[in-house]
Amino acid sequence: MLVDSASPTEITRMTRIAIFSTKLYDREYFDAANESHSFKLKYFEASLSLETAQLADGFETVCVFVNDDLNSGVIERLSEQGVQTIALRCAGFNNVDLEAAKQHGLRVVRVPAYSPHAVAEHAVALLLSLNRHLHRAYNRVRDGNFSLNGLVGFDMAGKTVGIVGTGKIGATFARIMAGFGCELLGFDKYENDDCKMLGLRYVELSELLVRSEIISLHCPLTEETYHLIDEQAIEVMKQGAVILNTGRGAVLDTKAVIAGLKQGKIGALGIDVYEEEAGLFFEDRSEKVLADDVLARLLTFPNVLITGHQGFLTHEALTAIAETTLANVAAIQTGECENEVDR
Ligand code: NAI
Repeated sequence: MLVDSASPTEITRMTRIAIFSTKLYDREYFDAANESHSFKLKYFEASLSLETAQLADGFETVCVFVNDDLNSGVIERLSEQGVQTIALRCAGFNNVDLEAAKQHGLRVVRVPAYSPHAVAEHAVALLLSLNRHLHRAYNRVRDGNFSLNGLVGFDMAGKTVGIVGTGKIGATFARIMAGFGCELLGFDKYENDDCKMLGLRYVELSELLVRSEIISLHCPLTEETYHLIDEQAIEVMKQGAVILNTGRGAVLDTKAVIAGLKQGKIGALGIDVYEEEAGLFFEDRSEKVLADDVLARLLTFPNVLITGHQGFLTHEALTAIAETTLANVAAIQTGECENEVDR
């Protein structure tokens, strides 16, 4: 808390927020959202790490994104510098050591839902591009090659789609797949009635893996879901199964997936997240040599489509992210915030 006697408006005016990993689009949407708050925003291009934590000296709040590293060392440093709040401008919080935050009295807020449509629709974009080979057709046609050889896809109607994690994004994806006339299977710790209304049937993960032609991952990254899709999981899948991951990279064991692709077991892979994406994604590295051999190998497959964690990148989602993040900071400065991450 800043000053006990200050009004909520005065408090927001005094609150300084250090926004890390800033891109042009972050500035644009945060500046617009801040018109109704008047926080003192300072944008840093650098991501938050032990080396850059000192930039947050004098700020009450740090605002971070998916690949900022809030390990215990960083949190200790932030706490020494007087930071009181970590405002995640994303849903996932796997990059924050919550135990360390609790120990140092830092409160953590997040944006649990900004636009499930943005991510679910991106998963659909990956799926349709892969199925109908749009990424290859685009290059062919531009090169004057109108041959259709190798571009055979499949009808979506009637296919079985397995959804791992049927929360907000998974349920939105399920709704779109239902529209295509797909059979829906789901695996989750908790059943979602909206999904059941669509005709989705909850099954064990093993059954989902065995029966699905398309498997889409929408669960968070936790100890339980780390490498959920590994060699054994791939082994029981249908020949030619399509895997989509717009959740978090490490839910997939990338090396096992590469082996599955090489054997032809995996028919296509669409990923928006990669387990080693930190330090790589969100930057233009086109003039540098790619040192990550696993990603380099993935890029060689014609049936793999990779995007650089852009599932959230829609106008609606960016607006909601900026507005909710600043509302979270305002709420936490003046009392309770419904989007505080449980400690
Ligand atoms: P949500 O919290 O609404 O849904 C997650 C679902 O996963 C819940 O139903 C939960 O019960 C389930 N789950 C948790 N542990 C599980 C387990 N061990 N096995 C099966 N299911 C499990 O979250 P939401 O908004 O749907 O987001 C899902 C994930 O998508 C996020 O955690 C985040 O990692 C990722 N995401 C990716 C984005 C991108 O730009 N690619 C943007 C936003 C989120």
